[in-house]
Amino acid sequence: MWLARIFSLALLGGSVVEAVDLSQDAQDMFDESMTFQDAIYDPAASYLHYFYYPLAAGPHETRSTVWYSAGLLQRNEGNDVQEAVNILEKVIGDQEKNTSVQWYGDYTVYPEQPTVGTPAYPPVIYNSWDPNWRGFIGTALIVIYEEYAHLLPGHVQDLILESLYNNTVGDSYRVGGVDGDNLYPAYSNAWLMRTVVTSWTGRKFHNANMTAAGEADAREFLALFDRNGTLSEFNGPTYAGVSLYALTIGAKYLGSTNSTIGQNAARVIREIWEYESLLWNANLRNFAGPWDRSYGYDMNKYVAIMATWVWSLVGKATVFHETSPIWTMTHADDFEVSPLIAILSEFHRTLLPESILSRLISFEGEHTYSGHAYAPPADLEPRNITTWLSANLTIGTDSFNQSVVGGYSEDSTSFSPSVVQWLRSDDSVGYFNLYPTETALQAEVAPYALNLTYPLGNASSTFTFVLASNPLGGKRDITGFDDVDGLQIEVVGGSVDPLPEISFCGLVGGSCDIIHDFEFWNLTFSMPANSSDVPSIQFKFAL
Ligand SMILES: *[C@@H]1O[C@H](CO)[C@@H](O)[C@H](O)[C@H]1NC(C)=O
Ligand SMILES: *[C@@H]1O[C@H](CO)[C@@H](O)[C@H](O)[C@H]1NC(C)=O
Ligand SMILES: *[C@@H]1O[C@H](CO)[C@@H](O)[C@H](O)[C@H]1NC(C)=O
Ligand SMILES: *[C@@H]1O[C@H](CO)[C@@H](O)[C@H](O)[C@H]1NC(C)=O
Ligand SMILES: *[C@@H]1O[C@H](CO)[C@@H](O)[C@H](O)[C@H]1NC(C)=O
Ligand SMILES: *[C@@H]1O[C@H](CO)[C@@H](O)[C@H](O)[C@H]1NC(C)=O
Ligand SMILES: *[C@@H]1O[C@H](CO)[C@@H](O)[C@H](O)[C@H]1NC(C)=O
Ligand SMILES: *[C@@H]1O[C@H](CO)[C@@H](O)[C@H](O)[C@H]1NC(C)=O
Ligand SMILES: *[C@@H]1O[C@H](CO)[C@@H](O)[C@H](O)[C@H]1NC(C)=O
Ligand SMILES: *[C@@H]1O[C@H](CO)[C@@H](O)[C@H](O)[C@H]1NC(C)=O
Ligand SMILES: *[C@@H]1O[C@H](CO)[C@@H](O)[C@H](O)[C@H]1NC(C)=O
Ligand SMILES: *[C@@H]1O[C@H](CO)[C@@H](O)[C@H](O)[C@H]1NC(C)=O
Repeated sequence: MWLARIFSLALLGGSVVEAVDLSQDAQDMFDESMTFQDAIYDPAASYLHYFYYPLAAGPHETRSTVWYSAGLLQRNEGNDVQEAVNILEKVIGDQEKNTSVQWYGDYTVYPEQPTVGTPAYPPVIYNSWDPNWRGFIGTALIVIYEEYAHLLPGHVQDLILESLYNNTVGDSYRVGGVDGDNLYPAYSNAWLMRTVVTSWTGRKFHNANMTAAGEADAREFLALFDRNGTLSEFNGPTYAGVSLYALTIGAKYLGSTNSTIGQNAARVIREIWEYESLLWNANLRNFAGPWDRSYGYDMNKYVAIMATWVWSLVGKATVFHETSPIWTMTHADDFEVSPLIAILSEFHRTLLPESILSRLISFEGEHTYSGHAYAPPADLEPRNITTWLSANLTIGTDSFNQSVVGGYSEDSTSFSPSVVQWLRSDDSVGYFNLYPTETALQAEVAPYALNLTYPLGNASSTFTFVLASNPLGGKRDITGFDDVDGLQIEVVGGSVDPLPEISFCGLVGGSCDIIHDFEFWNLTFSMPANSSDVPSIQFKFAL
């Protein structure tokens, strides 16, 4: 080991290429992301400034800093390696060391935060501490160790391994339904990150118990995935990207072992892209709905991690508008993961057939996708998914029967079970999406048509739709469907009162709150008073 280190340091002095080869597209994304992160990096702290809406006054941020350190090692110019070393020492130095606490082995959200578990700073899962940071940072540490260990001093290599060991032990404390945690196998992205970190670390330490835990996680994931070849956390433009990231690490670094996730990851990645590429509409630069856990209503306006995969595979212009600089978009902080996506993208591409890449580049023609996804315990039965895609209009829905409102994460702002998107004359995208308020929905889709029914609803039920504002130059006020730019929307049937209540949920005004920084028109349809009908609404659309 010692000799090997001397040898690699000696090579460093020469002209040996130490980085992962990137395609031009991946390199462009890498460079654009690193340029911004260089500007917000604070070398005195060895952390990035906290770049997250709303912008924080002063603090730094942990997770993105680790992502950036992978980028520094890949770039390896000037002081890059030394800064990466500083970062890794700092972040791992602050990793939780008390084995008795639920957040053992986790990292800080930001380095200035008070100590979690003190009277002033109670432990609140997903707030004062985030259990998924073990997965996000652990997976990044694996990439760093696998690709760049030869650039790092021996004590930092050892620190990474020790960090991953504690991380894995701490992550084993997570049990869905216990202590406020929600890590069930259906929480695809977080579950996959734990699976990969536990499987890799167990093998590295020859720890049979850890390896067995990784195997069990992998089998539980596959039991759900292989029902219908879909992630339980279905078609989330952000989190499908995280699942693919975790799976790529599994395929690349465990693929030649007998680990179950290593053996299956490449196949699972292909199957995910098989349906994601059918849901992608290159004309609209969006994945058609329905979406589990989305951070917005139009991918032209927020940064989704799937967008970074598409960029790295087929180029920026396919997914981002020239006229919308990344850093003006909401969730722009997620672009900080780009160095890692770029580093993994060349290997990732080798797993995909040309047919999938060509569907990403251009829309292949009108088609209907049908599938199923199952996310227990929220789903009482599998969801039925139907999405009709045409060149300039897509309609995608879930039929579901769930134990909670708002899908698996019980969040109506991110669960979008019925999504209509269309292309407008200025090349922007309109949307008309159901805001979920019920535990069950029956949805039927045909070309230019959508029927929605609440089987468990009653006279108090409402159908609330989130409607995009018109583009600049279009009507600023919406008083009815006639005012909507680029799409004719008509209520053609159903048991609701066909005249909606219309309100505006604006950035600085209106009568309701914005959602994920998107302002929108709220169109709410109610039932006639005392109606005993099953609530339903039927639409026809025309471009
Ligand atoms: C570790 O956490 C436990 C449980 O909160 C606490 O009782 C104990 O004092 C802590 N140990 C140290 C060394 O802080
Ligand atoms: C790992 O946890 C142990 C306690 O089990 C602690 O002594 C050690 O310092 C931790 N290592 C790191 C890198 O945090
Ligand atoms: C073995 O792994 C399980 C699951 O990860 C964990 O709960 C348990 O504490 C581990 N046991 C030992 C002895 O490490
Ligand atoms: C999807 O899974 C269900 C079980 O939930 C099964 O009955 C059905 O055949 C599967 N469909 C496809 C297309 O694989
Ligand atoms: C993988 O191989 C090791 C021996 O190299 C063996 O102990 C283990 O049971 C195998 N695991 C699986 C899942 O086949
Ligand atoms: C879709 O919109 C583009 C741009 O406006 C237009 O050129 C094309 O003809 C439209 N396609 C269809 C099938 O309507
Ligand atoms: C999905 O479709 C199947 C077959 O048509 C049906 O039995 C099931 O009830 C549907 N599930 C939901 C949640 O609507
Ligand atoms: C939802 O699922 C539960 C459990 O399978 C079943 O009892 C109920 O009838 C279903 N409801 C609807 C509206 O399909
Ligand atoms: C919607 O419901 C109407 C009335 O029942 C029916 O004629 C139409 O075919 C349905 N559309 C779809 C897409 O199922
Ligand atoms: C409708 O159902 C909800 C909850 O299921 C209940 O709170 C409400 O009173 C019901 N409304 C009517 C008019 O029955
Ligand atoms: C939409 O407007 C209705 C009133 O028409 C209101 O009750 C509801 O809370 C609003 N929903 C959202 C998501 O803004
Ligand atoms: C609805 O029912 C309530 C109580 O039964 C009654 O007072 C009210 O007049 C009814 N409203 C309408 C519009 O029929």
